[in-house]
Amino acid sequence: MAFFQRPYLVFSILIYSMKKVLRYSAIFLLLLFIIIQFIPIDLPENNTDITADILQTEKASDEVKLILEKACYDCHSNQTVYPWYSKMAPVSWLVARDTRLGRDELNFSEWGELSKRKRVKILSNMVEEVEDKKMPLKIYTVVHRDAILTQHEIEILSSWIKSLTDKIM
Ligand code: HEC
Repeated sequence: MAFFQRPYLVFSILIYSMKKVLRYSAIFLLLLFIIIQFIPIDLPENNTDITADILQTEKASDEVKLILEKACYDCHSNQTVYPWYSKMAPVSWLVARDTRLGRDELNFSEWGELSKRKRVKILSNMVEEVEDKKMPLKIYTVVHRDAILTQHEIEILSSWIKSLTDKIM
């Protein structure tokens, strides 16, 4: 009886057990974090061959070049820049997935090898994705703040894409 007549005692027991749970959870998470680092990293490999790169095969102004490189190239080229945190699990899993999927969908480094039809199709998808602000992916701009395109940059990119489309067709 005496026990329940002292609510502060119940309270302090509660705090004590919560602290214990928190401490064990923290240790568990830390161990888990260390263990997952031993899973082999599977980031897509880079390649320095730029002969078929869109920035080589098509004329792009420095402005366009800068926009594509800062906002798209990490996922859509063979020249991905992998900062240190992209090599730490679980971030590496996300980066590997997005880079692989992104390159499969559109690889600017292999632009010159695409058929005319495919290039036109991709260009029209690009305008759509950029104007609807679906690209670059949100998860990417959380860290790469400079990849968030301003309205001005979107217009520069769109008009370049449109003139390129006209040129190809
Ligand atoms: C963080 C990685 C990442 C960045 C940065 C990124 N993309 Fe993507 N992109 C993807 C992935 C993954 C896909 C395939 C899955 C999807 O559509 O969401 C994709 C798909 C696309 C597609 C094909 C969409 C379709 O279904 O037709 C286009 C076009 C595209 N991206 C353009 C761009 C452009 C242009 C930029 C830069 C302004 C850009 N992306 C930046 C990851 C990225």
